[in-house]
Amino acid sequence: MLEVDNIEVTYDQVQVLFGISLDARAGEILCLLGRNGAGKTTILKSIMGLLPLKSGTIQFNNEPLSVLPAHQIPKRGIGYVPQGRRLFSELTVAQNIEIGLMANGSKNGSVKHTRERVLDMFPRLQERLKQRAETLSGGEQQMLAMARALSMQPTLLLLDEPTEGLQPSMIQLIQDVIVQMKEQGVAIVLVEHHLETVLSITDRVAFIENGRCPEITDVAELKMSPQKIQGYLGVG
Ligand SMILES: Nc1ncnc2c1ncn2[C@@H]1O[C@H](COP(=O)(O)OP(=O)(O)O)[C@@H](O)[C@H]1O
Ligand SMILES: [Mg+2]
Repeated sequence: MLEVDNIEVTYDQVQVLFGISLDARAGEILCLLGRNGAGKTTILKSIMGLLPLKSGTIQFNNEPLSVLPAHQIPKRGIGYVPQGRRLFSELTVAQNIEIGLMANGSKNGSVKHTRERVLDMFPRLQERLKQRAETLSGGEQQMLAMARALSMQPTLLLLDEPTEGLQPSMIQLIQDVIVQMKEQGVAIVLVEHHLETVLSITDRVAFIENGRCPEITDVAELKMSPQKIQGYLGVG
């Protein structure tokens, strides 16, 4: 459904992506794995139309995305949870979700039904609807960022380090939600450093190294040759 083909991206004059190609599939989790500064966030921003492509193409359901203005891209069914979350911190949980629901607009009829469905996935948010976003714990804020993205009913979801800085119990909850979305048929592109998460929930890993993607490997295969991860990350 998502096809990224040979994209090159520069910030000012400095090139940071050198011919990245990858694809995301419905009901599958693709992990982008690589060191800090490798270009993972830049790949997600490029998909969202937030950075111009120097060359290459990005297609979603056979439609070129790179020609669309950035504000049209979420409307095509692509949800994005940026690194560091970026909520409306002064607004309440309910208001943050409402913003996602409004952006979804008339698509798929019942706003009420979508709201209920999203809140069912996040009981912790359900209990905190009137609380201001900035007063939530880190894990709860991450959940809210994901709930807001889901309220737009995406068929492709881009998640940039959703477990960053969270305690293990929260990591588990976030992981569970990601798996639930995958099971509903959503295609997921996940930037994740936490290796246990990578190995337990993702289907394929795209290694990102110095703005290139030298290899995409099935996780089943990776489990049999973990030294590959060491090679790319320099850690165990
Ligand atoms: N706004 C920016 N302006 C200039 N360079 C940037 C900007 N954002 C990121 N970079 C550079 O682009 C490279 C890739 O960054 P990024 O995509 O954020 O990496 P990752 O998410 O893998 O840690 C890094 O060298 C980074 O310093
Ligand atoms: Mg990043």
